[in-house]
Amino acid sequence: MAQQDDVFKKIVSHAKEYGFVFPSSEIYDGLSAVYDYGQNGVELKNNIKRYWWDSMTLLHENIVGIDSAIFMHPTIWKASGHVDAFNDPLIDNRDSKKRYRADVLIEDQIAKIDDKIAKEVAKAAKRFGEAFDEAQFRATNTRVLEYQAKRDALHERFSQAMNDNNLDELRQIILDEEIVCPISGTKNWTEVRQFNLMFKTEMGSTADGAMNVYLRPETAQGIFVNYLNVQKTGRMRIPFGIAQIGKAFRNEIVARQFIFRMREFEQMEMQFFVRPGEELKWFGQWKEWRLKWHKALGMGDEKYRYHDHEKLAHYANAATDIEFRMPFGFKEVEGIHSRTNFDLSQHEKFSGKKIQYFDPELNESYTPYVIETSIGVDRMFLSVLCSAYEEEQLPGGDTRTVLHLPAPLAPVKCAVLPLVRKDGLPEKAREIVDDLKFDFATHYEEKDAIGKRYRRQDAIGTPFCITVDHQTLEDNTVTLRERDSMEQTRVNIADLHTLIHDRVSLSALLRKLK
Ligand code: GAP
Repeated sequence: MAQQDDVFKKIVSHAKEYGFVFPSSEIYDGLSAVYDYGQNGVELKNNIKRYWWDSMTLLHENIVGIDSAIFMHPTIWKASGHVDAFNDPLIDNRDSKKRYRADVLIEDQIAKIDDKIAKEVAKAAKRFGEAFDEAQFRATNTRVLEYQAKRDALHERFSQAMNDNNLDELRQIILDEEIVCPISGTKNWTEVRQFNLMFKTEMGSTADGAMNVYLRPETAQGIFVNYLNVQKTGRMRIPFGIAQIGKAFRNEIVARQFIFRMREFEQMEMQFFVRPGEELKWFGQWKEWRLKWHKALGMGDEKYRYHDHEKLAHYANAATDIEFRMPFGFKEVEGIHSRTNFDLSQHEKFSGKKIQYFDPELNESYTPYVIETSIGVDRMFLSVLCSAYEEEQLPGGDTRTVLHLPAPLAPVKCAVLPLVRKDGLPEKAREIVDDLKFDFATHYEEKDAIGKRYRRQDAIGTPFCITVDHQTLEDNTVTLRERDSMEQTRVNIADLHTLIHDRVSLSALLRKLK
């Protein structure tokens, strides 16, 4: 675990050192849980968004996109339930004056027991070597069984309290478990209170009678309230989908793990409108399509798993998360929800407008049911970064830090490097850049020894380096170095375009989704 923490720390500092992610407002000591994307980060992020957007809008002729405003009529959030129920339970420590999420304190306590079990298993695995049977050990070892029983009981009590929205019970669990504040080390806790996660601001001047508005906590409602506009103007027939990428804001009480949980973040959401009664079929279909989208990136199938929700929100009749194995464990990256007709019906009720679909095949009108796919851009970014990062031991004892980014997502696709800064090599290299730059994000670099320049490109995940040397001037060939294998091949300049395109093009990646 400690080793994984170290790796994560290294990834965070690498992200900063190489222009991927900076803490926001850093020269003013930062702003908690808000981050800026740097020159390489924004390219990686844009490529992730392009991959998602094209997979939705190009590959499905019945999915179209929109871009709705962040500010919306405040009644929307009443209708959606966010005003009344988009809450986290918070608790304060009276001595440190620090605020925590009560549920997170308890989840951390459960994670501590999990760690103890994992340590016992790791110790035994070391002791028994090849002969170790983990399943048998977990089923028979007394200490592990004790920990497991304690964990299960705590988990059950906690789930019950959360489901019943029982704030007193949450506090009692914290007291019974003797959970202390990590800062003050004391158990001097306040009551548990509900805390609404929406940011509120005012629109219009106070003299005119300002209106309270919210920064949207999800992009989905912008889709629901535009359902009629899109259906009518696009003459869409059910089943059809509306996709959107945009910022969302949540006043997270506990914001941590870098860009995993932020106060300002970005979502890629798609609402798929279907006939009532067909939603579970479509839910299964989207579950499968979305996992395929993730796996097509080639980051390792074993890094993903579904987490089906046992307890469902009152408006959902099925829900699952796609989890990714981050250095701090399997974590949700995307949610797929069958949201019934809850949102559209609520907007119909609160707006007084009829939001229905006339189905010509059935010759009847109904409120469509909705399957939602919702993925955080920043979490996706983090999963790609964590999976790509490697401190690689090279033959001869050398090491290099490399990002094995999926090539179509890499911020820079190729770097053109003249071997020396003289003899016409820079000019020849510039000619190559001027040709490739129309199709690929291309860097030109002439400073430092060639090995150092390769390392710099490895560190930002550039799939190809093209080295121009004296032979280039004679026969129009260059050395093409591949990032992962570090293999160098002599190729004709005329072939560069095809060779690079085959590896880095987004269309090749999209074709894997067929
Ligand atoms: N419209 C449904 C919805 O918003 P959600 O599970 O609350 O569902 C969907 O959020 C996705 O948005 C999550 O799977 C996660 O990737 C991302 N997300 C949610 N809160 C986030 C936060 N505070 N920081 C970064 N990403 C977040």
